[in-house]
Amino acid sequence: MRSVIAGTGGYLPGRSLTNDELAAEYGLDTSDAWISERTGIRRRHMAAPGETTADMAAAAAREALAQAGAGADEVDAIILATATPDSAFPSTAARVQEKLGIRSGFAFDISAACTGFVYALGVADSMIRAGQCRSALVIGAEAFTRILDWTDRATCVLFGDGAGAMLLRATEDEGQAEPRGLLSTHLHSDGRHGDILQVEGGVVRMAGREVFRHAVSKLASAVDEALAANGLAKSDVQWLVPHQANLRIIDAMGRKLGLPPERVVVTVDRHANTSAASIPLALAEATRDGRVGRGDLVLMEAIGGGLTWGAALARY
Ligand code: COA
Repeated sequence: MRSVIAGTGGYLPGRSLTNDELAAEYGLDTSDAWISERTGIRRRHMAAPGETTADMAAAAAREALAQAGAGADEVDAIILATATPDSAFPSTAARVQEKLGIRSGFAFDISAACTGFVYALGVADSMIRAGQCRSALVIGAEAFTRILDWTDRATCVLFGDGAGAMLLRATEDEGQAEPRGLLSTHLHSDGRHGDILQVEGGVVRMAGREVFRHAVSKLASAVDEALAANGLAKSDVQWLVPHQANLRIIDAMGRKLGLPPERVVVTVDRHANTSAASIPLALAEATRDGRVGRGDLVLMEAIGGGLTWGAALARY
């Protein structure tokens, strides 16, 4: 048994602020040039007052279900990655289950910060392979602007809100030469570095340079691991769909893989860092506009608080 990507979806709140608009609204001593030169970020979306993580997740999930031609009754499991759940419990996944009118199966959240979607994919794929469920909605959803310190200009300019979703379906593995679906996932964490990127006193605290230093080396090793596990070369990768934290990190990974820029899906300029939502949002955009299509080999990678990091390889 293996899991095939049956549909993807994304949701962004209606309100979008440029760097200048953000600076004006929060009285930040910063500039569009400082932010965009160091990070590639030009704007970000912000959830409306009262708009919850579950609301955004459900909207993204509806698009994934529609793209897959699946009804709510087909969903066995909802696995939702978030660092900004609406409450400790019920889980945001259970709230999404209710919003979608799903009456069976199970739902739970995963906490792995910006690596959350890769972790959720790993868990969902393992459960499908083990026969625990026949389909899974895998979601990354964040209202990150609710946990920012608006006096910390080095951090608050980096994040945004949104949600992305993917429906995985079980399919028989018939030993094809180029099987479709998730090929492998590779998950890592190292709790010794927990304090360089953490939520403390309800807000995000980050040692930016330290995080940057870990990001490039850890992502590179996760990517090498994913390719080696499948006997694939860098040149086999058709699309890099990375976590969208910083354009300099994304460009470094694209160069490492020898991919031309047009083969790297970038949303960080318009979405900023939406944490666990960034990979499925980018994938939803690239499938919607027809860039990523059936048979394409897609490499996903992410790093985040924990530290956590990982990679996933999938053939569409
Ligand atoms: N506007 C203007 N100046 C700012 C600023 C802002 N928004 N934020 C910080 N600065 C200033 C600092 O105060 C500092 O000034 P000083 O030299 O007078 O003390 C200067 O800019 C340099 O700060 P520093 O934090 O060293 O900048 P940097 O070059 O490391 O860039 C990041 C900061 C955050 C862009 C960069 O470290 C980074 O991208 N890190 C990775 C972050 C990441 O990807 N996190 C998510 C992982 S999931």
